Amino acid sequence: MARKILLHDIDVANLTDFNVYRNLGGYTAVEKMFKNFTPDQLTEEVKKSGLRGRGGAGFPTGLKWSFLDKKTDKPRYFVCNFDESEPGTFKDRHIGQLNPHQLIEGMILGSYALGVRTAYVYIRGELFYVLKIIEKAIEEAYQNGFLGENIKGSAYSLDLYCQPGAGAYICGEETALLESLEGKRGNPRIKPPFPAVVGLYGCPTVVNNVETIASLPWIINNGAEAYAAIGTEKSKGTKLISACGHINKPGVYEIELGLPVEEFIYSDEYCGGIRNGNKLKAVIAGGSSVPILPAELILKTAKGEPRLLSYESLEEGGFETGTMLGSGGFIVMDDTTCMVKSLLTYARFYHHESCGQCSPCREGTGWMENILRRIDTGKGSMKDIDLLVHIAKHVEGNTICPLGDAAAWPVASAIRHFREEFEEHIKLQQCRFTK
Ligand SMILES: Cc1cc2nc3c(=O)[nH]c(=O)nc-3n(C[C@H](O)[C@H](O)[C@H](O)COP(=O)(O)O)c2cc1C
Ligand code: SF4
Repeated sequence: MARKILLHDIDVANLTDFNVYRNLGGYTAVEKMFKNFTPDQLTEEVKKSGLRGRGGAGFPTGLKWSFLDKKTDKPRYFVCNFDESEPGTFKDRHIGQLNPHQLIEGMILGSYALGVRTAYVYIRGELFYVLKIIEKAIEEAYQNGFLGENIKGSAYSLDLYCQPGAGAYICGEETALLESLEGKRGNPRIKPPFPAVVGLYGCPTVVNNVETIASLPWIINNGAEAYAAIGTEKSKGTKLISACGHINKPGVYEIELGLPVEEFIYSDEYCGGIRNGNKLKAVIAGGSSVPILPAELILKTAKGEPRLLSYESLEEGGFETGTMLGSGGFIVMDDTTCMVKSLLTYARFYHHESCGQCSPCREGTGWMENILRRIDTGKGSMKDIDLLVHIAKHVEGNTICPLGDAAAWPVASAIRHFREEFEEHIKLQQCRFTK
């Protein structure tokens, strides 16, 4: 059985209750923090652990913290990104709903390291039931002296607020999130300057993902070296994978990074194989924004090595034959799946969620959706396939934020790996799977 860092107590009854969490050793990392670490030492400890951001980009967490502008006398902010709207990704709500104190404890640790007096959890509007759970847990943390003035008799004080968004996917992009938190329309900002220098209300800010923050108590309790001993050279610790699609056991799984993809899909400990004994056709391994891979390339790299659930193994081969770990939203498709139709679903999503600030994304996402719908309804022509590739190429890298890339990569990769299926759809003027 894999070691559990994030989900070790997840099945304990009433874990959302302060006393239950506390009796299982909760908030001891905060006590240890006051005894053993200065803020800079805590940042160093997180750097040593090798923890990488779990929101999608995989940026090293301690390094990100060290970029925070500490020369200015402006206040600093720490913000938890709980927007979680990426199709296929549903891991953060698992923590928020079942173990909110783990997240709050992580927020205290991060805030202390960054010298922050006020911190926020920005939560997706649709997760209102989770917001209520977190707000109750915050109240309990105040009542028990872990939030507020002079935490546990120390000189350190922290206020923590939970703020819902209005349900826009783009508000998960960290600068759009900050705009939204300031009460404005959630449009991504042009970078630089980065939030570490000009963030919330123009002040130095760090934004981290829920899972990243929830990993901190274990790291402080057990030490950076213990965390770094789990995983692979470039992918340390454990990762939550939300698995969905045509598998026997969809759900949220905690894996040790470096687990073979084949074991994850077929073993009973995880996905339990493909439904109805069907054949695996393709996987989107890191949430809908990453390139799709056909069965042969998700199980083995182009070099013939077993593909692992790690940052470096999934990236092996670049975008020609590889993909990304992203947020860990693992979408499995069996051999009854129509690639045109599933790609149309994603294209429709990105078109709908584009904030419209930059023309390649605003227009390109709409064009890609329209062309895919044309092909799907039997009215496409062969020229449409190259047109899609052309549009995707011109959206990628030419936009203010990575939503443009996220819309382009699934299109480019689906055509790269399943071109014949698009051609067949156009020739037949209908879908082979539903005719
Ligand atoms: C369109 C878009 C949506 C995003 N949505 C989320 C999200 O819901 N949650 C999240 O943590 N990061 C999301 N990100 C990534 C954030 O911008 C940011 O990199 C992340 O919150 C940083 O946290 P980490 O370093 O702990 O990963 C999104 C990025 C983009 C471009
Ligand atoms: S890439 Fe799309 S979502 Fe991002 S800023 Fe431009 S228009 Fe908005």
